[in-house]
Amino acid sequence: MSFNILTLCYLIGSLTFIIGLKMLSHPETARKGNLVAAFGMTIAIFGTIFLYRENGEGLHNYIWIFGGLIVGTAVGFFVAKKVQMTAMPEMVSLFNGMGGACAMLISIMEFKHIFSNAMAFPKDGPADFYIIYEHLSHLKMLIIVLGMVIGAVSFAGSMIAWGKLNGKVKDFSFPGQTYVNLVLLIGLISYIAFYIFKTPVLTTEFGFAATATDGTLGSTGIWKEQIYLFYGILALAVVYGVMFVLPIGGADMPVVISLLNSFTGMAAAFGGFLYGNQVMLTGGILVGAAGTLLTLLMCKAMNRSLKNVLLGSFGATAAKAGGTKEQGNYKEISLSDASTIMAYASKVMIVPGYGLAVAQAQHICHELEKLLEEKGVEVKYAIHPVAGRMPGHMNVLLAEADVSYDKLLEMEDANEEFKSTDVVLILGANDVVNPAAKNDPSSPIYGMPILEVETAKNVIVNKRSMKPGYAGIENDLFFAPKTSMLFGDAKAA
Ligand code: TAP
Repeated sequence: MSFNILTLCYLIGSLTFIIGLKMLSHPETARKGNLVAAFGMTIAIFGTIFLYRENGEGLHNYIWIFGGLIVGTAVGFFVAKKVQMTAMPEMVSLFNGMGGACAMLISIMEFKHIFSNAMAFPKDGPADFYIIYEHLSHLKMLIIVLGMVIGAVSFAGSMIAWGKLNGKVKDFSFPGQTYVNLVLLIGLISYIAFYIFKTPVLTTEFGFAATATDGTLGSTGIWKEQIYLFYGILALAVVYGVMFVLPIGGADMPVVISLLNSFTGMAAAFGGFLYGNQVMLTGGILVGAAGTLLTLLMCKAMNRSLKNVLLGSFGATAAKAGGTKEQGNYKEISLSDASTIMAYASKVMIVPGYGLAVAQAQHICHELEKLLEEKGVEVKYAIHPVAGRMPGHMNVLLAEADVSYDKLLEMEDANEEFKSTDVVLILGANDVVNPAAKNDPSSPIYGMPILEVETAKNVIVNKRSMKPGYAGIENDLFFAPKTSMLFGDAKAA
């Protein structure tokens, strides 16, 4: 009976994940979608705790389970409550890393479980006669190892990404790093293949007794070797996770973040497969698939190839590039002049960027939009896919301020409309409008599609200073004849 109710709990969990994910794809329903999926997750967790049975026995280590749940919930709740909107991407990265670490630990525990049983052979039996409670096939070992490796890469990579997003970890690269990463990746894959085929296959005989089909179980030595090799793979996976994220800089972090996200999903799916747990499998597959799609979209948006992402071979020169070129003079504009130009325009396009989030200027920006519309000006927003610091950052901000969704233009459409726009007002955006991405092959952001604001009649850039954006490079747009700088905090201005 309880088994059936548990299956029902998992079914509810799986369905709510799918419905929640669908609702998350639109700003108006996103908040509810999150709650729907969380509700399903709660049912799945408590169903597992109270209804799960193996050989007629349920879980009994409740102190550990509830201790972990209480500590995790409290930490998650307070961190999420306290976090500033601008620090959200770092927190997402940290949480993603924790997901990877969980998947990695599940695989390690499962491995220890199998091998401690395999080594507990009977005192009087022949040397190749072992007490074993598990079947061990190459497939099972592959699932354990892949769950651990992908989880470890995701954990290590997300920790570096977290450090980079909050500025504590600097980009680090050296000549030939791409090749080092390539060797690491090939080495890791070969090591896994070697390990899997080296694992003795065990079959259960006569209940709890087992022998190796290939007769290799003459002593426990082989198991010790397997254990050392297993932890060797873990170490290599952590090194690879660190090495492939460390050099990525410039404007390319979004691609890596979504890739790490899909890794965590895949690692969780391996965990679900290992335990035969349907809801974990569904959740992992959904996160893995959504993360993979997002990665491909991000690659397209940034004009990067997935191969380069995996080898950490782009954007590495961000810190070295820029800042050295003689730029000439920029033109400053007063607040009253800026408002006059906009009031007499027939079409104004607002380009929001990370600075809008820093200033929390989304509500006041919506006020400006309404004021202009009262004067008969058409107002739209041009959204770059990687503006801000997380996917959909600008959409979320503007939705929070009740900006109508159909006023938001995607990059391709916006680039068409700039030609007929009188004034482009850039609010705290920098890299996403930097023409170096089109004109300067030595720039770390070269190749990334940008919002081509310079085709409009006038460009007003609001930021606090001439400092560069996330990629750390100068922006020629600020020195262009059509551009005027309106200095100040976005909200105050
Ligand atoms: P950025 O290039 O980072 O530029 C933001 C600009 O906002 C800065 O130049 C800054 O100049 C200005 N600013 C900061 N605080 C401000 C305030 N209070 N008021 C007015 N302006 C302010 O932003 P972007 O154009 O949105 O580009 C995003 C960058 O982040 C890209 O390089 C992207 O690849 C990267 N990134 C994106 C993501 C995702 S998924 N979206 C994730 C990680 C990294 P001042 O200091 O002079 O004011």
